[in-house]
Amino acid sequence: MPITTCVFDAYGTLFDVAAAAREAAAEPGREALAEVWPKLAADWRLKQLQYTWLRAVADAHADFWQVTQDGLDWAMAANGLNDAELRERLLALYWELSAYPEVPAMLAALKSAGFHTAILSNGSPEMLAGAVESAGIGGDLDDVLSVESVGVFKPHASVYRLVSERFGCPAHEVLFVSSNGWDAAAAAGFGFRTLWANRAGEPVDRLPWRPERELRDLSAVADIAGDLKQGN
Ligand code: LAC
Repeated sequence: MPITTCVFDAYGTLFDVAAAAREAAAEPGREALAEVWPKLAADWRLKQLQYTWLRAVADAHADFWQVTQDGLDWAMAANGLNDAELRERLLALYWELSAYPEVPAMLAALKSAGFHTAILSNGSPEMLAGAVESAGIGGDLDDVLSVESVGVFKPHASVYRLVSERFGCPAHEVLFVSSNGWDAAAAAGFGFRTLWANRAGEPVDRLPWRPERELRDLSAVADIAGDLKQGN
């Protein structure tokens, strides 16, 4: 079945979630952060995601900006960083995360090949608008879909359903791309075609569904989408 629509997870897939801690650590006077920033970044991301899953299961939604702050507070405490100015700096950098280098050309290639393109993310609309603008990729995206319109985080099925509602296409016409193994797996369970951008070289998640293909980054996405458009 040919695909018509290419949809991307945002954080970790298009935008480099480690960039905030890495960039802050390189600033003058940040010796304490410089010693621990890779662990701080990993702890921040893991807690942020755990809080989304827990809030979804407990039916206690708060937006992604709230769980991003909560995850950072846990990670700073776990890494012995008690510094209100640093907290504000890290949060400010999170609004302007850089895109991975292959992203702009890949999105432009998809648009010129005639695909619908969109982001589907846990991010709040305001956070996503900030990241899309600072990365300069808005011109090659037809839409930016946020879980805030359904009030629950991924991998709730109502989130993936937003794509069919927006583009009027069945799930099997959608190619969904995520660097988060659990997100790619759940999207496959929903019925999307899926690519897992396994940037960190992790083992595949042991869930009832598997992503269709595994990549190291997004540079081959437009070629793969082109093949799938031919019905291959
Ligand atoms: C997102 C998170 C899962 O953008 O990275 O939805």
